[in-house]
Order: sequence, then structure tokens, then C-alpha cells
Amino acid sequence: MNTLVKLDHGWISFTLRQPWAPATTASKLSTLPPEPVIPSKKPFKVELVGGKCYSWCTCGHSRKQPFCDGAHKFKAQGLSPLRFVPEKDATVWLCGCKHTNNPPYCDGTHKQDFITSAPLHEPADS
Ligand code: FES
Repeated sequence: MNTLVKLDHGWISFTLRQPWAPATTASKLSTLPPEPVIPSKKPFKVELVGGKCYSWCTCGHSRKQPFCDGAHKFKAQGLSPLRFVPEKDATVWLCGCKHTNNPPYCDGTHKQDFITSAPLHEPADS
């Protein structure tokens, strides 16, 4: 029987061993990366500079949306920012819901029910 338990920094999946089962079927331990929180249900319009490196927040905890401020190191270990360099200057829409299928760009996923009905993440004061 597989059991999934959510901890502060992610999920742990394990198998409970029946007391009468042989030791060779002992518990399997694995971790899954944390799910991103939703800091915005709309994309961010951003003017990018060609050749400049940007770090798009993938965890949703950054206070500098849509860009990374390092919050994933404490609040979403296992996730890291997406670094990208645009070829030329451009005005783009960067995803704010963190569930796009074309990161870092908005693909309209924020209009789906699982985003519109989900709670919006409010950053803690500290
Ligand atoms: S804001 Fe995430 S897909 Fe549009």
C-alpha cells in the first residue's frame, strides 16, 4: 500500500510493509519536487532586453514576481528558477500562475478551472 505524505518542503511517498511480509519488500522511499504556489492568476507584461539573463520564478514564493528572489531555497527546496536569455528586446507576457506548459511564457493555462478555483498565494510577512 503506497502512502503519500505532504511535509513542509515536499512530498514523501512510502510503502507500508505488512508485519508478516518478508524483509525484501521493505519500504521504498522517494521524494517528489514540491508543487508551485500561485502568486498571480494573470501573466506579467514585461519588457525584456535582448542578451540579458533572466531568472523566472518557478516556485511562486518570490516577492519579485515574475522573477526569482531566492525564496525557493527556503520555501520550495527541489524547485529552481528557469534561466533564459532573450535573443532581442521584446515585450512579452511571463506566466504568473506557474503552471504554463511553455515556461516562462503565458500559454493561457491560467484560464483553466484548476487555476481559477485554486487559492491565491499570499506571501508571509517574514
Ligand atoms: S499566467 Fe500562467 S499560463 Fe497564463
